[in-house]
Amino acid sequence: MSGFPATRLRRLREGEPLRRLLRETRLTASDFIYPIFVTHGRDLREPVGPMPGAYHLSLDHLLAEVTEVAGLGIPGVLLFGLPAQKDPLGSEAYDDHGIIQEAIRVIKQAIPDLLVITDVCLCQYTSHGHCGVLEDGRVQNDATVELYARTALSHAEAGADVVAPSGMMDGQVRGVRTALDGGGFQRVPIMAYAAKHASAFYGPFRVAAASAPQQGDRRSYQLDPANGRVALREIELDIREGADIVMVKPALAYLDVIARARERFDHPIAAYNVSGEYSLIKAAAANGWVNEREAALEVLTGIRRAGADVIITYHAKDAARWLSDRR
Ligand code: PBG
Repeated sequence: MSGFPATRLRRLREGEPLRRLLRETRLTASDFIYPIFVTHGRDLREPVGPMPGAYHLSLDHLLAEVTEVAGLGIPGVLLFGLPAQKDPLGSEAYDDHGIIQEAIRVIKQAIPDLLVITDVCLCQYTSHGHCGVLEDGRVQNDATVELYARTALSHAEAGADVVAPSGMMDGQVRGVRTALDGGGFQRVPIMAYAAKHASAFYGPFRVAAASAPQQGDRRSYQLDPANGRVALREIELDIREGADIVMVKPALAYLDVIARARERFDHPIAAYNVSGEYSLIKAAAANGWVNEREAALEVLTGIRRAGADVIITYHAKDAARWLSDRR
């Protein structure tokens, strides 16, 4: 008795009022985190070529940007820095007057309620472009974790609200947690890049952050895109090491990982809608091939539907605006 003609699913989607009432997944500005690239210098607001709408901002322009973000109802920003100089050990990453540390102070002083989340990694800061310490061409795990711990601690000291270790070293969450607790920052949560895959979709970001490896690739530390079970093991380990929020990255080619993580774990899940995912829509929209607003909102809704609580996205400001027009 349950098939046609007794059952007509179209009844519930005939008009917008019922569609709106019965919508299972809702998107709001509160779901988003907006990534920002900060740079040394003055009066710089340089467009990032492959990511229309994204800029390298000097600290004097940062304030206007974060004021806009906060005004749109977006709860937080994720900071990436371009250092003055790169060296083999990425030392500006853990310099108390590094670009990120200064940016944190600028934002927290002006808008204390905007969450400042920092990416904890070395790839923007190392001359070789790898995410850690290189020895004989290999990334050294434990020595790298020590530098992540120093970096996270210096971010917390500058006032970061949340730190996000992203280098995919074994034990990085434990190392960062221990350093934070040792420094009196028990209250600072860790958003762990737990399941971060070796992805072609980071391409535009690496142009933006000038962080492509000079030699080789990141496959000895980032996950093989083919491995969903390993992704779940990574998430489980990060939870055991003390991660407060776990992240899946990228989002679109890994919606199954988000959905499986949602079923298996009760931790908040973040999904990183990465640079390449953003650039694809921007490029197609610029050619008139897709409607940017509809495509971006569909993607963001899909990421939420898969099970993400938080979406890190370069579309955050646009989406917040589109969502407020809709009401
Ligand atoms: C590495 C890092 C990456 C991104 C943010 N931090 C990836 C990488 O270069 O391997 C990518 C973000 C994006 O593509 O939007 N610490």
